[in-house]
Amino acid sequence: MKVSKEELYSLIMKKLEGAGLSSEHAKTTSEILVWSDLKGIHSHGAVRVDYYAERIAKKGINVTPQFQYTSPSSSVLIMDGDNGIGFEIAKIGMEKAIEIAKNHGVAVVGMKRMSHSGAIGYYTELAAKEGLLALSFCQSDPMVVPYGGTEPYYGTNPISFAAPSADGRIVLFDMATTVQAWGKILDRRSKGLDIPEGWAVDKNGSPTTDPYAVNALLPIAGPKGYGLMMMVDILSGMLLGLPFGKHVSSMYHDLSSNRELGQMHIVFNPEFFTDKDVFLKMMSQSLDELKQQTPAPGFEEVQYPGEGGINRMNIYLKEGIDIADSVMDYLKGKTIHQNKYDNKNRFAE
Ligand code: NAI
Repeated sequence: MKVSKEELYSLIMKKLEGAGLSSEHAKTTSEILVWSDLKGIHSHGAVRVDYYAERIAKKGINVTPQFQYTSPSSSVLIMDGDNGIGFEIAKIGMEKAIEIAKNHGVAVVGMKRMSHSGAIGYYTELAAKEGLLALSFCQSDPMVVPYGGTEPYYGTNPISFAAPSADGRIVLFDMATTVQAWGKILDRRSKGLDIPEGWAVDKNGSPTTDPYAVNALLPIAGPKGYGLMMMVDILSGMLLGLPFGKHVSSMYHDLSSNRELGQMHIVFNPEFFTDKDVFLKMMSQSLDELKQQTPAPGFEEVQYPGEGGINRMNIYLKEGIDIADSVMDYLKGKTIHQNKYDNKNRFAE
């Protein structure tokens, strides 16, 4: 079903406020969920509202958090989010990081004790819109085997990087460190289809194509993705003194408990490293050169990271955003949440 961004925003607001979230935090959360759907990241948009509403209603998200900040040096800030909604905490964290990087060249902002913050590219894009470069990493619940292992240990631990150019184009790289999200496996089950090899393993750690035999997801590119997800866990978990690896809380286990997650933003101000104008022009030149390449067989063009999202957003703004009918039925209905997620196993079957 197609829906305008304004309608989607107000439907999401109603559910979040109905569940008990403050208007201020509901506005930020709705804005970021709509941004995700607009960019075509439907796995992290309106489809998640039912889950957030249930967790808010069951008090697993603190709706009156008292944020606390410690600043051990001019460029390092630690924010304790008091287990408030992750979207608000990650956005404030990036706003602080932008301010610090503008004044000091580099900002490292660690946010601890927060809930899920969705598609993390939203936060790095905020910095790039201010002419800065940003990285962000965050923890997520364990559902991935380490390379060569049999038991889930890491989350789908995402990485995002954003950088500006001289002409307004923004490179926005934003990915999970797993080959596929769990949602894609559920989708195959619902369609009665096998999964391609390389997505997941069974309880023995052997590759499986049977969507019902999946016990864990696989890291991207074997040991390389495994190393990246470990890096994310160390930077956004251990370095902030938080539960790490398999000790990270589950998204679906107990919706009345706080998640205690961590996220790390790192922001660079190019002015402190080189001539900013030269840097921005180099970025534009590089994007032009990439786009001028002859596409390989099967490709229409070379795209830069984030370009697909911009193209999708431009179409959605004209034609309306594609949202699954089942999600729209829920959003338009009276029920605040459908009591679907609590006490499920880690894959929310
Ligand atoms: P994806 O596989 O759709 O895209 C990954 C990256 O590849 C993007 O930067 C995209 O722009 C780029 N890309 C895709 N096709 C391209 C092409 N043809 N040419 C150039 N670049 C291209 O993303 P994935 O891994 O499915 O992640 C989806 C979202 O899930 C992300 O927003 C991520 O932040 C979020 N996430 C959030 C988690 C959390 O706990 N908060 C956990 C895991 C993921």
